[in-house]
Amino acid sequence: MRKYSTIIAILFVISIAVIAYAGHDHMVIPYEKQGFGTATSMPIPAGGDLRQHIIGQEPYKNWKMWPGKDKMFKGAEPHGSLLTVFVNDNALSSIKKMKGMSNNSIIVKENYAPNKNLVAITVMYKVKGYNPEAGDWFWAKYGPDWEVLAEGKVKGCLGCHTSAKSNDFIFTGKVTK
Ligand code: HEC
Repeated sequence: MRKYSTIIAILFVISIAVIAYAGHDHMVIPYEKQGFGTATSMPIPAGGDLRQHIIGQEPYKNWKMWPGKDKMFKGAEPHGSLLTVFVNDNALSSIKKMKGMSNNSIIVKENYAPNKNLVAITVMYKVKGYNPEAGDWFWAKYGPDWEVLAEGKVKGCLGCHTSAKSNDFIFTGKVTK
């Protein structure tokens, strides 16, 4: 009898542990606490991961701006009146080569209101095989506090950017010949 109650007690403890574990959110390891080897890896196509990459691992503020575009240049609607567009190294070399954007290109656009308040951040990230029908772009929109407002194969973004399909869905400058 004692044997059974011991077994039952052990099973009980295990099941509590399993339930507790399953109910837990996946742990997010802050960048500073991550091990080596992650600093140059590309994020998965997800709003949170991409955000961690562009403000943590590879801060976009250190990137180059779109060639020939100044800080807070005047853009068209809907993105806001003043825009600053940053490109990572992959994107920058693609822009220079004029053969479309390479995989792992990231473009980060800060959207400012006329009074220079940051309104949103919109991002395009090219992920091999992510969406072959539409240039493999992953789309993301963040609020001024970096909350994810939209992510994925976002219909709204595609609806407009598809008109620039022959230029790899890009409006800011020519990236194809
Ligand atoms: C109604 C049209 C329209 C919609 C909708 C739209 N965009 Fe754009 N986007 C533009 C235009 C036009 C530009 C060029 C910059 C400018 O002058 O505004 C641009 C530029 C960009 C750029 C800079 C690189 C490039 O393509 O030129 C990014 C990044 C971007 N948009 C992301 C997004 C995301 C993410 C969404 C959806 C949340 C989105 N856009 C929705 C019109 C649109």
